Formats: sequence, C-alpha cells, structure tokens
Amino acid sequence: MTRGARGAHATLEDLLAGRLPDERGRFGAWGGRFVLETLVPALQSLESCAREAFADASFRDELARELADWVGRPTPLTPARELGRLWGVSAWLKREDLAHTGAHKINNALGQALLARRRGARRVVAETGAGQHGVAAAAACSRLGLRCTVYMGSEDMARQAPNVDRIRRLGARLVEVREGDRTLRAAIDEAIRDWVSDPEGTYYLLGSAVGPHPYPWIVRELQSVIGREARAQILQRAGRLPAACVGGGSNAIGLFHAFLGDGPVDLLGVEAGGRGGGPGENAATLRHGRPGVLHGSHSLLLQDAHGQVLDTHSVSAGLDYPGVGPEHAFLREIGRVRYEAASDAEAVAAFEECAASEGILPALEPAHALAGARRWAREHPGALVLVGLSGRGDKDLPALERARAAIGDPGA
Ligand SMILES: Cc1ncc(COP(=O)(O)O)c(C=O)c1O
Repeated sequence: MTRGARGAHATLEDLLAGRLPDERGRFGAWGGRFVLETLVPALQSLESCAREAFADASFRDELARELADWVGRPTPLTPARELGRLWGVSAWLKREDLAHTGAHKINNALGQALLARRRGARRVVAETGAGQHGVAAAAACSRLGLRCTVYMGSEDMARQAPNVDRIRRLGARLVEVREGDRTLRAAIDEAIRDWVSDPEGTYYLLGSAVGPHPYPWIVRELQSVIGREARAQILQRAGRLPAACVGGGSNAIGLFHAFLGDGPVDLLGVEAGGRGGGPGENAATLRHGRPGVLHGSHSLLLQDAHGQVLDTHSVSAGLDYPGVGPEHAFLREIGRVRYEAASDAEAVAAFEECAASEGILPALEPAHALAGARRWAREHPGALVLVGLSGRGDKDLPALERARAAIGDPGA
C-alpha cells in the first residue's frame, strides 16, 4: 500500500494506481478499521498475509487452478438476444450463476479459504444472508479440509430454505441467529462475536466487500476476476467495450474494477428500493444513507435522526443490509459510478422477464441489476450493455411466490 492517497481528497487516479485503500485502509473518507483493540493484531496480520499471498506465484497459481478446475471459470458471457430485442439494445450477461455453487460468492470464498489455510487457522466462521455465501464458504472449506461454522438469521433461513440444507450437506455447522433483525446484519454481529473469542485461531471468512480493512480490499481483489474476464470477453465477442456495465454489491465491485479506467463506459450500481423510500422500507443505502460506522467500517449507513441503525427491507435477502462497502461510497462520491434503486416489484418483474425470454432464472439480487439495465436501455437505444448476473434464482423460488402475492402483479 502506497502512502499519500491524500485522505479525503483521494481520486480515481489514486484508485487506478493501487494507492487505495490507503495505509489506514481508507478509500478517501470511507472504510478504515473501527474494531475492538483485540482484533487489530489479527486484522494487521491478515493484511500482511494477503499481501504476501497475492504476490506469491504459487498462491496465485493454486487459486487460478482451483478457479478453473473446481469453480468452472471463466464463466460465460451470454448474448441476451431476446432481452436485447425487448429493451432495444445489445445486451450481454456475465454468468456468475454458472460458477460452482451458483453465484459469484465462490470466487471470494475459495480465495479466503486458501488464505485461512495459509494462516494455519483451526476453524473458519462465516455469515450469510441469501445463503449463497454460506454455501460457498462451506464448499470451499470442505474442499480444503477446514472446519466451518456459518451464522444465518432465522428470517433468512426461512426465506432461503434451499440453501440451509445445502450448507449442512456440505459439512458446515449452521447456527441460527434469532437476535437482532434476524437477517444479514445480525448474522455478521454473531460471526464477529465468535471471531473475537479466538481472533488468531479462527479465520473470519467475510462474504462481501464490507467490514473493517483489509476485508473490502481482499474481497475486491478476489472478485475482480469477474470484470477482467468480462472485459476481455466483450472485446472479443462484440469487438468493443460496452456503453454501460450494470451490477450491485461486491459482485459489482468485482465487475466494475476492470472498467474503472475506461472513461466512456457508464457504470451503474443498482440497490434494493424495497417497498418505497420511507425508513425501514428499503435497503438503498447509497440513496438514503448518511455517514456512519457499522461492522468496523466508515461508510454510508441507513440510520434514524439519532444515529440508530434502521431495519431494512428487500425482497432479496442478499441485499437486505443497512450498510454498503466503502469502495462503493467512494465511487459514488467521485462520480465514477452512478447508483439507482430498483423496487421489489421491478426486481420481480425483471426476474420473470429474464426467465421467460432467456431461459435463465436469475437470483433476486441481480434481478435488481436487470431492472436497472432495462431502465438505462430505454434512454440509450441501440447501445451495448453488460449486466452482471451474480447468481442463479433457484434459491428464490419459494420466496418469489410470497413476494408475488405481497406485490400484486408487477406487470399490471
Ligand atoms: C446471487 C447474489 N448476488 C448478490 C448478492 C449480494 O452480495 P454482494 O454484495 O456481496 O455481491 C448475493 C448475496 O448473497 C447473492 O447471493
């Protein structure tokens, strides 16, 4: 990490030159390491371990080999001909749903499980919302012979039931979290509590580009494979860069990274607009959040006038979180990525449109990106648009029926 990224005045050039996160783990004003003193040495040694590993050819080779042989990378870039026809553009989907275990989460879980083994960790703990990170962590740990405990909120266990069974079958111990909001936020709280009790012997395998430094950076590095592949594939298949890339969450951080220096490529992040703009009705942190600290990181946060973290709502368990990764907050602040929200109803409609027209069941998380891409397409007829399809929707089928009933007919 190079010094001198000029604190709150950091720029896109600093990010492109690898000067961010800076020596305090900040992306400009965002990020950092707001944790108990007892966790600081573990985070510092994790950072050194990751820096050494990412620079070590044998680590990189093993990761690349496992990504190819076990995860199934590179994932395809699919021309979405019918969606393109309906939207009036040329549409392409980066198919993380076809990665092993069905989502982009496996890229990060595998890389961090390799780091856990390199650190000699006795066990791994992880949190999960939609269950995809829990499945990915359980699978990566069984592949590498590591013991794994996954924390999951009881509300998410009910709405993502298919993944609960998968996590258990893959050999992980699943702990139900009945406290707090009983979703992802509470699961992270519990995973951190577990980790604090043995920060050196336990490895915390965090599932998204959130949390204290160095996690947002590690997850970004491991998910950047999505954008590197997608950029090369679109150049090869379409012969040019897209006019826009659309995504959400850590998969979007991974997708966008390779395109950040491509000035003319519009980058559009789509968050969960839920049922509406009121407190507790959405998880659109970049739109409605204010600066605050959650889970060890300074970022935007949904909170009330007294700074209390608000409950969130989204039809999609994977987006139902009141915070957002610090790099997203930075990219928004410097204007390199534009963020919008898609409502529950728009996401469900986009899910159904994709299933009917492309023969692909997208997860409800990337269904938000599809809804955003569709909106963008209306204003850019004929353009080339690339959408990050972060995972497959099988896990959402039981929840979809309930969502459909709550929303009514989104097409009406
Ligand atoms: C398919 C899929 N996409 C997106 C997400 C959101 O996570 P992230 O912000 O890490 O991309 C999840 C979370 O579980 C997911 O399962």
